[in-house]
Order: sequence, then C-alpha cells, then structure tokens
Amino acid sequence: MPVNSESSLRFDGRVAVVTGGGRGIGRSHALALAERGAKVVVNDFGGALAGDGSDSGPAAEVVAEIIAAGGEAVANTASVTDPAGAVSMVDDAISNFGRIDIVINNAGNLDPCGMPDLTPESIAQHHDIHVLGSFNVTRAAWPHFTSQGYGRVVLTASVGFFGHPYLMAYSVAKGATVSLARSLAVSGEDQGIKVNLVAPAADTRMVTDPELRAKSGLPPRDSSAPLNPERGPERVSPMVVVLAHESCPVNGEMFAAGLGRFAKVFLAETPGVIDRGLDAEGVLARWDEIVDETGYIVQVSSAGAVEFRERLLTDTP
Ligand SMILES: NC(=O)c1ccc[n+]([C@@H]2O[C@H](COP(=O)([O-])OP(=O)(O)OC[C@H]3O[C@@H](n4cnc5c(N)ncnc54)[C@H](O)[C@@H]3O)[C@@H](O)[C@H]2O)c1
Repeated sequence: MPVNSESSLRFDGRVAVVTGGGRGIGRSHALALAERGAKVVVNDFGGALAGDGSDSGPAAEVVAEIIAAGGEAVANTASVTDPAGAVSMVDDAISNFGRIDIVINNAGNLDPCGMPDLTPESIAQHHDIHVLGSFNVTRAAWPHFTSQGYGRVVLTASVGFFGHPYLMAYSVAKGATVSLARSLAVSGEDQGIKVNLVAPAADTRMVTDPELRAKSGLPPRDSSAPLNPERGPERVSPMVVVLAHESCPVNGEMFAAGLGRFAKVFLAETPGVIDRGLDAEGVLARWDEIVDETGYIVQVSSAGAVEFRERLLTDTP
C-alpha cells in the first residue's frame, strides 16, 4: 500500500526519536517513520558492534537520506548510556520540531562470550546499552508524554532473551529489557502511553559479522555475497510502524518481526498443582501435573500473575 494513501498509517505532526538509527534495523525504522510523515531525531553513537568507539557519520548519513527523500530529520550522536545524552535527544526533538511523541529504543551492541570467560564488565556493558539506554531515553521523554496524555514507546528485545550460551551478556540484557518494557507499559497505561517490544530478525552486521559468527559458534557466511533483501531490516519495520502509531492495538506485549514473519511472543504460566501438604518428594511425584500446559495463562504483568495465583488458591478449598 502506498504510504500516503488515505488508509495508510501516517505520522504527520508526530515526532520520533530512533536510537541506533544510523545503521541496520534502526536506520530502517527511521526511514519508515519519516516516509510516513514523522519528523525524526536520528540518534546514533556510531560505535563498533561490540559497543566501543564512536562515529558521527551513520546518524548524519541517515538524516541526509531522509532529507533527500523530502522528509525532516536531525542527527544526534549521544550515547544512550549517558542520561544527559538521552535528555539531549528529547531536547533536539523539542527544539527542532516542537514535541516528542515516539521513542524507538533500538540501539544495541553485541559482544559474544560464554562461560567461564564472560566477565562482569561485559554483562554490565550490555546492560548499560540495552537496558539503561532504553530507560534513559524513555525517562527523558516521559514527562512530555504524561503532560500531553500521549506517547508511544518501542523497546527492542531478541529471541536471545530465551537464553544463549555464547550470547550470554546480550541475552541477560534483552531479558531485562522485556521486564523494563512491561513495567513501563503498566506505568503509562492510564496516561495514553503504550509501550511494546519488537524482537527483530534481519541480516545486519549483528548477524553477518564474520568474527561474531566465529565466536558465537555459527557457520561462516560468504561476506562478499550480496545481502538478500528478503532478510533485510525493512522486513522488521512494519511491526514497529504499527507499535509506534496512534492506532497501536496493544500495550506491554512483544512481537517477533523479520524475514517476512510477524508473530506474538509471550510469557505464560501453567495452572499447576495446589496441594498445601506437598513436600519435596510430593512435588517430584506430581511433576507431570505441575508442568502440564493445559489451561496455561499468558501473563502481562506482575499484578496479573498475582491475581491468577490468588484466584486459583481461592477456588481450591
Ligand atoms: N539483527 C538481528 O537479527 C537482531 C536480532 C535481535 C535483536 N536485534 C536488536 O536490534 C537492534 C538493532 O540491531 P542491528 O541488527 O540493526 O545492529 P547494528 O549494529 O547494525 O545497529 C545498531 C546501532 O546501534 C548503535 N549504538 C550502539 N550502541 C549505542 C549507544 N550506546 N548509543 C547510541 N547508539 C548506539 C550502533 O552504532 C549501531 O548503528 C539491537 O538492539 C539488536 O540487539 C537485532
């Protein structure tokens, strides 16, 4: 569908910050939002895949692409790990475009390592970029969202959060990102704010980098082969466009997007067994009933999980 037809999802009058918008998936989000009328602050610190170094080039290049296509954008090269840098992204939105409506927390690093070589410093670095970075930028925008009674936030998870032996620090950070998003979603639900997650899949340097593949135990790829557009970041952005739009139908949920597939990812709990006299031997004896997924419930918040448990306990004499 053309992005300027009457029924297309438009962002005219809306202003977005896209972190890590200078490359890969973030670049695609920034271009997609701008193409649909949003004014965009393209943030990118421009570092290497592992998170070190900086380069003002990527953010500036994407801004130039947007402007060349007739859109409006400004570059911001702060690191999401710096709370003052996060405030500067929102300040850039306000001073250049007068408001802030959307934060796409996409910036991320990846430095693969497994046990026992993984260091506390690596865990902390991934946490700083993925978790604190998302927190810092969302926090900077939050007062604007609450005062205008409107905001859309997308955080970037990964199927890595299910657990990975070599991408352990990354996986830990992505898991925390999920809990951050769900806590923010509950915080903003009465104030016109919706917070959701995308778990992307796309052939970017985070997937194709030969050193990363070798360190992660993945088979090598021919790095000279042209990238397959069917595996490109553009296959992720349609989901982010929906989650960032006024008509976003959900809050606090996570969606896989990429390679032509869109799906919901959720956390669930089995009804389990209620038997107040169970000792450890009894727990083991009734294991099959405890893990039986029949009648499982999808949990969307801690309050929901507590309510589910209380209801089961109340219903059981
Ligand atoms: N490519 C995939 O298949 C895949 C899968 C799951 C999740 N993800 C996630 O998608 C997001 C985008 O990844 P990508 O594949 O496009 O990788 P990428 O390396 O191409 O892009 C990430 C961008 O984030 C920027 N960045 C890193 N640290 C930053 C910081 N501190 N402040 C500001 N910018 C910073 C980098 O400079 C880079 O331009 C990441 O959060 C990543 O974890 C990607």
